[in-house]
Amino acid sequence: MIKEFFRIKNYVKVRWHLLVAGIFFTILSVFANGVSLSAIVPLMDKVLVKKEKIILPENLPQIIKIKIEPLIFKINQLPSLLLLKYLLIFLITILFLKGLFFYLQNYFYRCFSTRLLTDVRELLYTKIMSLSDDFFAKKQTGELTTRIIYDVNLLNVVFESFFPKFVFPILLTFSYFVIIFTIDWKMSLLSIFMFPVILYPVFRMGNKLRKLGKKIQIAYGEIGNVINESVYGQQIIKVYNREEYMKEKFKKENENIFKNIISMVKRLLIISPFTEFAGAVASSGLIYYGAVKIINGGMSTGFLFLFFVALLSMISPLKGIGETYGLIKQASSALPRVFSVLDTESSVVEEGQDVFMGLKRNIEFRDVFFSFEGKQVLKGISFIVEKSEKIGIVGPTGVGKTTLVGLLLRFYNPEKGEILIDGKNIKEYKINSLRQHIGFVSQQPVLFHSTVKENITLGFENEERFKEVIKMDGIAQLINSLPEGENTIVGERGITLSGGQKQLISIARAIYKDPDILIFDEATSSLDTESEKMIQKAIDQTLENRTSFIIAHRLSTLKKVNKIIVLKDGTIVEEGTHQQLLDKQGVYYTLWQLQFA
Ligand SMILES: Nc1ncnc2c1ncn2[C@@H]1O[C@H](COP(=O)(O)OP(=O)(O)O)[C@@H](O)[C@H]1O
Ligand SMILES: [Mg+2]
Repeated sequence: MIKEFFRIKNYVKVRWHLLVAGIFFTILSVFANGVSLSAIVPLMDKVLVKKEKIILPENLPQIIKIKIEPLIFKINQLPSLLLLKYLLIFLITILFLKGLFFYLQNYFYRCFSTRLLTDVRELLYTKIMSLSDDFFAKKQTGELTTRIIYDVNLLNVVFESFFPKFVFPILLTFSYFVIIFTIDWKMSLLSIFMFPVILYPVFRMGNKLRKLGKKIQIAYGEIGNVINESVYGQQIIKVYNREEYMKEKFKKENENIFKNIISMVKRLLIISPFTEFAGAVASSGLIYYGAVKIINGGMSTGFLFLFFVALLSMISPLKGIGETYGLIKQASSALPRVFSVLDTESSVVEEGQDVFMGLKRNIEFRDVFFSFEGKQVLKGISFIVEKSEKIGIVGPTGVGKTTLVGLLLRFYNPEKGEILIDGKNIKEYKINSLRQHIGFVSQQPVLFHSTVKENITLGFENEERFKEVIKMDGIAQLINSLPEGENTIVGERGITLSGGQKQLISIARAIYKDPDILIFDEATSSLDTESEKMIQKAIDQTLENRTSFIIAHRLSTLKKVNKIIVLKDGTIVEEGTHQQLLDKQGVYYTLWQLQFA
């Protein structure tokens, strides 16, 4: 499981030196802690119980015995009060060091984990940005947001607690083991016999917690989707009186979360009292054994005290280990999901090295095929657009018009056939350089939560160009009508603007870019005649000297284009100018009749 976490090193740079520093100070702090405990022995035997001498435990290993015997002899000679002074100075120093090391170890661990998590968040975001369209088609936005926020937080839990709350207590426990085993190994064996009994159920519980954690995550994802949909579609939900239906959906997931959390809490909560109780039962047997030893002169009271202090001190870190283990198990269910995003390969990858410098001759679709998950959309599309030409694309809804221009933008790759610009497959151009020269007004205008100005410039500053763009017909009127002009903030989905206004802004965005190639995807079809006229004017101003693809629903907008292609069932069924197609009296003619008869 832990190995799996460190797979993260394949994705981000891990700051090992911070970890090493943390571990270094952990060892020092564990050591200081053990040494500070040992002061109990002289304090007990020589200061508190005045008449006693320190008697080394009879079971103490020989090597240690030889080493500390002279020291014990000296301490035994010292007057109590003087010894007390020495002891206090010793204790204050060692406790200061212990605190300092504790601080430093946690500081380095946190630097290590926080850096790692910050990098993972950034990596996930960058990855999601880089993924191709098909990824987003499969994932709901709620799920994606949940994944970034919730899963990364779970990872946070793991990376933050693993060293300070898991490795540190393990080392600490180990140091207590060393202490008790040196004092009396028989008594120690007796006491640790209890520990597996205590720990077994705790480890068992870890597995169950992991499963519950996964269920909770899925439910959170679902709830995120329901909330997103409800906000996004609130008007439709109201109009169709679907509030109850949505509430039911929400309630189901919400209750699901409740049930699973409670079920998890029940298990998490039992761990701590259980370990404590079992520990207490074990100690009472030991007290008996130890007391008999002192009575028989096998060691002094101070050592028995030290034994118990060390033994009881183990309970807290062991408890911590158990809890953290449960937590880590639970959080580890987030890992595969995070990795699965990081491992997703974009289906559109950079293949070429050429920098596209702008259109010189023409754009050619050559026998292009495309399908979405087995559903054939385009079947052998071929046509050529010369530089500065305008081409109209017509066809029933769902025929693949948007998909066709998406291919040119490299949202997807053709399944078969090629798209050539100036005779070169577009795959050979760097994707950024290609998109640099294409302006795109999508079917659904997309506005970001920001000012009108930033929605047009998208952060590319060019004051002069911006001034030109906002002088254009339609756009100028729109900006003048807004309360704070170009600095008006528009909502996440442009709630404050009408469809036409949103579309105008996305057109202004495309014009501002000043591209060679322009794509309009039904930019005017959802508008009233008035707005359409205004937008058409804005579009007409833009089209001069540019190569453009105009997907149009209203055929009247295509009267002036150089060529129209008519799509049906994934293929081009007719091709020609508006007049030619009317004369032909075929599909286009029928559509025209339907709109204007
Ligand atoms: N991301 C997608 N995943 C699966 N199918 C899709 C996706 N986008 C579009 N389609 C399908 O491909 C077909 C063509 O869609 P589209 O190009 O948007 O048509 P048009 O723009 O002509 O209305 C439709 O049948 C649509 O359902
Ligand atoms: Mg479309």
